[in-house]
Amino acid sequence: MKHPTLDVLNARRSVPSRQLGEPGPDPATLRHLIEAALRVPDHGKLEPFRIRILQGNAKQAFGRELARMAVEANPDLSEAKREKEQRRYEHAPLVLVVSARIDGDSKVPELEQNLTAGCVAYNLLLGAQALGFGAQWLTGWAAYDRDVAKLLGMKKHEHVIGFIHIGTPSMDAPERDRPSYDDIVSAWAP
Ligand SMILES: Cc1cc2nc3c(=O)[nH]c(=O)nc-3n(C[C@H](O)[C@H](O)[C@H](O)COP(=O)(O)O)c2cc1C
Repeated sequence: MKHPTLDVLNARRSVPSRQLGEPGPDPATLRHLIEAALRVPDHGKLEPFRIRILQGNAKQAFGRELARMAVEANPDLSEAKREKEQRRYEHAPLVLVVSARIDGDSKVPELEQNLTAGCVAYNLLLGAQALGFGAQWLTGWAAYDRDVAKLLGMKKHEHVIGFIHIGTPSMDAPERDRPSYDDIVSAWAP
């Protein structure tokens, strides 16, 4: 039998962003979620993460801008693909952009700073689910595009870790096969 204390982890799954709708967290709940998610392991206490909130008109404008940039990069982009770019940000009522802000002068390796920022993103997924919402971590080309980073107000040493889409699931999220303990875990012995 699974240990009930681990229910949140054992139930964890993503809800595809197109299945996320209103309502999203209210402002007080969102603040609580983010405050809890910031409690990550952080080598050197560098706080190498930032969160930008995309909601309402700002979220729609972001989607439109990304669609415009996609067409600019590829003028032959089909209308269907352009619309898909834009609609990606129209489903979930809330998108949190988690970024890593890397301190290149620190002795803490960049990888560790990225992992710490990744923990924030994962905490947001778990926390959103614990509050009864659904969430999905998406990246896509936009996460790796410097013009998108600039649009979000990021300087050279900051990059997107993920777009965390959060909302109310319109249906039960699909389950997938999970890694099996026996395939993954082994005892090391000298
Ligand atoms: C760093 C990262 C980036 C991801 N980017 C995408 C993405 O762009 N598109 C996508 O369909 N899934 C992406 N995923 C996977 C989904 O977030 C999700 O994990 C997947 O749909 C499987 O669902 P599960 O979380 O329930 O296992 C990403 C996951 C991670 C950790």
